[in-house]
Amino acid sequence: MEKKFARTLVTTALPYANGPVHIGHLAGVYVPADIYVRYLRLKGEEVLHVGGSDEHGVPVTIRAKKEGCTPQDVVDRYHSIIKQAFADFGISFDIYSRTTSETHHKHASDFFRKLYEDGKFVEMESEQYYDEEAKQFLSDRNIVGECPRCHADGAYGDQCEKCGSTLSPDELINPKNALTGNPLVKRNTSHWYLPLNDYQGWLEKWILEDHKEWRSNVYGQCKSWLDAGLRPRAVTRDLEWGIPVPVEGAEGKVLYVWFDAPIGYISNTKELLPNDWEKWWKDESTRLIHFIGKDNIVFHCIVFPTMLKAEGSYILPDNVPSNEFLNLEGDKISTSRNWAVWLHEYLVDFPGKQDVLRYVLTANAPETKDNDFTWKDFQARNNSELVAIYGNFVNRALQLTKKYFNGIVPEAGELTDYDRETLKEFSGVKEEVEKLLNNFKFRDAQKEAMNLARIGNKYLADTEPWKLAKTDMPRVQTILNFALQLVANLAIAFEPFLPFSSKKLREMLNLESFDWANLGKIDLLPAGHTLGEPQLLFEKIEDAEIDAQTARLERIKKENEVNSFTPEPVAPVVSFDDFCKVDIRVGKVLECEKVPKADKLLKFKIDDGMGGRTIVSGIAKYYKPEDLVGKEVCFIANFEPRKLKGVESQGMILSAENADGSLVVIGPQGEVKPGCKVG
Ligand code: MF3
Ligand code: ZN
Repeated sequence: MEKKFARTLVTTALPYANGPVHIGHLAGVYVPADIYVRYLRLKGEEVLHVGGSDEHGVPVTIRAKKEGCTPQDVVDRYHSIIKQAFADFGISFDIYSRTTSETHHKHASDFFRKLYEDGKFVEMESEQYYDEEAKQFLSDRNIVGECPRCHADGAYGDQCEKCGSTLSPDELINPKNALTGNPLVKRNTSHWYLPLNDYQGWLEKWILEDHKEWRSNVYGQCKSWLDAGLRPRAVTRDLEWGIPVPVEGAEGKVLYVWFDAPIGYISNTKELLPNDWEKWWKDESTRLIHFIGKDNIVFHCIVFPTMLKAEGSYILPDNVPSNEFLNLEGDKISTSRNWAVWLHEYLVDFPGKQDVLRYVLTANAPETKDNDFTWKDFQARNNSELVAIYGNFVNRALQLTKKYFNGIVPEAGELTDYDRETLKEFSGVKEEVEKLLNNFKFRDAQKEAMNLARIGNKYLADTEPWKLAKTDMPRVQTILNFALQLVANLAIAFEPFLPFSSKKLREMLNLESFDWANLGKIDLLPAGHTLGEPQLLFEKIEDAEIDAQTARLERIKKENEVNSFTPEPVAPVVSFDDFCKVDIRVGKVLECEKVPKADKLLKFKIDDGMGGRTIVSGIAKYYKPEDLVGKEVCFIANFEPRKLKGVESQGMILSAENADGSLVVIGPQGEVKPGCKVG
């Protein structure tokens, strides 16, 4: 089963350049991939990490129309924001390019043309929705109508956002152009299809038999697609934005974005290594690994491999370690609802704390199931793991060396039994971390590295060199020498996970040789070696910083509730006579107080122009009693009296229920004498 590979090509899903990137992107794809490539580089292996922006597709065109700019403007803007965010978080690409590049347009076009000429496509006609006024076919996302399931208006041709159903445009009731509201007609159009069904048997063997080692979520999704039976998939679209279909008579058609984007992995390699790219894509001794999120599985495990197989000269992926999704404070991350932690915003609020986020996202990585990011957990992991264990150990070891030995690594004497026990505990770490990383278990691998820090921290706490300084300096020398070797090991072990901190730590240690093979050794810092200046590796994060983040999310949640508000359906018709049965009057609040032992209720004394009355109302959560005194309100004067918490209420004060569920009291807009009728 173990195949010996000469080099590893790592690709990361090309993010859509129609919005910035958030923690979900980082956790699902880019941090694990970066850990992996840094680890391989540290081992001295030949590795290439290729990425870029996915710049075609309908969402880009929709965004451009909304903003009144060109699709190119949209992708230019987001490509640079995304590229910067990745650079800021230390995601170490060998190239981060884009699918609007010249190299890509040519390469994707040639790729299509070769399959076309080799007769690998089938051309088929189908009926699609067409806007006669705009003279264009509309993509699923550009069509809206009534949802056939929940009957909400404004469902998209691919999905109803109200009830979450997956739809096809044909199912919509009264389909319209989403942008203009124009009605649509059906028209025939012809497209090229990749006959996935012809590759069914080959895919079954390649995945289900030859790749049983793939993660179970990936394997399972492939299996259910294969079990359902594959069908031909259109690889062209009637659209203006994209790579033109390089075939005569295909005017107005472009390559489907999911056809061109994965070819971007190849084009970007070619852009980086114009003369040498083929060894990465056409040599069987290259191991190809795709890092992706779970919504990309079918494209990377079934569609793209079929394209590569049909083309004939490319290697296939060896593994596709896909993650599940990361949620934010219990809710699905959503760009359109602004329910996300945006990477560029995080860095404004937490400058220099890239590694903290990297650490937390790996510790909580959604490797086997969806996981949740919470700000409380973020704070706890920083304060009680990074600061209290890793940071504390490093700081103690360096400060003590500075204090007792002027920052020079002391000579080690004989190791005690306890030292040797500690050594035994930590010497297995290298092998363990390797095993886990080789199997894409990043979360457990990082836990192992943290264990190393835990061992070091415990070693100093147990040996208490600061107490021995007066009595046994030779022992202090040994202890600190040993502790410093552990610190050097930590710098190496954490490099793939926390590159910024490792760099800082290397500077503090003045450590030159930096090699994965050194992990587990205790002669990394020779006696007499001068250390650099100690600094804090991590800082405590205070409650106020976390509260600011959760307050932001609460604000967004409120805004979303208000924005997604739809009025309740109107009640059945009532006659004027029936309406007149309800006697509504204006009154003035004379007194208002809380009802004891009832947190919702306020008790009002109302001047009703008829001698006054008492009314109890459930609005205590929204008003301070004193703020309502002197106000005019509307109330139902002939409402059947009832007892609430022992107080008789003689009427009902009218209030409106706002979109967020809060209540607002209704009163006249001008001065009205108490007792006057409303109607
Ligand atoms: N843009 C796609 C997404 O964000 C991923 C494309 S990956 C590639 O879901 F293979 F097409 F490049
Ligand atoms: Zn619906």
